[in-house]
Amino acid sequence: MGKLEGKVAFITGAARGQGRSHAITLAREGADIIAVDVSEQIDTVPYPTARPGDMDETVRAVEALDRRIIAAEADVRDLAALTRIADDGASQLGRIDIVLANAGINSMSPALEMDETTWQTMIDINLTGVWKTIRAAAPHIVAGGRGGSVVITSSLAAMHANANIAHYSAAKAGLVGMMQVLTIELAPQSIRVNTVHPTTVATEMILNDSTYRLFRPDLDSPTRADFEEAARTLNRLPISMTQPEDISNAVLYLVSDDGRYVTGTTHIVDAGGRL
Ligand SMILES: NC(=O)c1ccc[n+]([C@@H]2O[C@H](COP(=O)([O-])OP(=O)(O)OC[C@H]3O[C@@H](n4cnc5c(N)ncnc54)[C@H](O)[C@@H]3O)[C@@H](O)[C@H]2O)c1
Repeated sequence: MGKLEGKVAFITGAARGQGRSHAITLAREGADIIAVDVSEQIDTVPYPTARPGDMDETVRAVEALDRRIIAAEADVRDLAALTRIADDGASQLGRIDIVLANAGINSMSPALEMDETTWQTMIDINLTGVWKTIRAAAPHIVAGGRGGSVVITSSLAAMHANANIAHYSAAKAGLVGMMQVLTIELAPQSIRVNTVHPTTVATEMILNDSTYRLFRPDLDSPTRADFEEAARTLNRLPISMTQPEDISNAVLYLVSDDGRYVTGTTHIVDAGGRL
């Protein structure tokens, strides 16, 4: 018997990366999945966001575990679309118990050179998009009357400063304030709310040339190996990156009964990197 038998999870950014890994991990524990992502390139992002077809692999992997999955295309900036998907998903699968507000972007610029669109797009997706996700899906947890769990994907960048990502750090730190307020608002309904704060995770968000150049300004054409060498110096444990499954395991703890009295916390998975 899985830890999430009979539960339904609503997950944004589920076409690939951590979101896909979360969908597979929760499905393995018995959950059915409502998976949301967007397959059009997001402006201001210097690496490809999810492509058409990425979500198919998430669907295949969840169905291979004999779980149901409803995959839908929506931008987390579109509250009406998220609400439609959450309503349809809850009516087809019967309920929503878990919300993972995971979708996010990265872009880089010194704060004093950043253009307004780059700033605003970041806040719209990484901060307001999380509120819209929870606004659309969490009322179904409340309506179920059985309690549930919300996990917001923040970042180590909420707590540890890196140059060139003032907008990202501001959004990710803002999520902590949002999480704390939601914690006290939703506790009476036995709904727990936590943030998870990964250090570098091996996904397309960081495995791309623009991140390699950011980490290795000393080199003309840095490679992944050059990047990993620099990334290793961020962590206390001798690794360059965590894997998506490491974050999924933390999420599973937070959403299952293993974490049944854990709410209002900032759950850090950083290989000691903030110290
Ligand atoms: N990779 C890292 O090093 C790292 C570290 C800390 C935190 N994070 C956070 O983890 C989360 C997941 O990122 P990842 O590492 O899996 O990267 P990723 O780029 O592989 O996945 C992010 C997913 O979000 C989707 N997305 C982006 N904007 C969207 C929008 N407006 N609407 C709907 N979907 C959208 C993308 O299409 C993509 O599938 C993000 O919130 C990210 O900020 C990542």
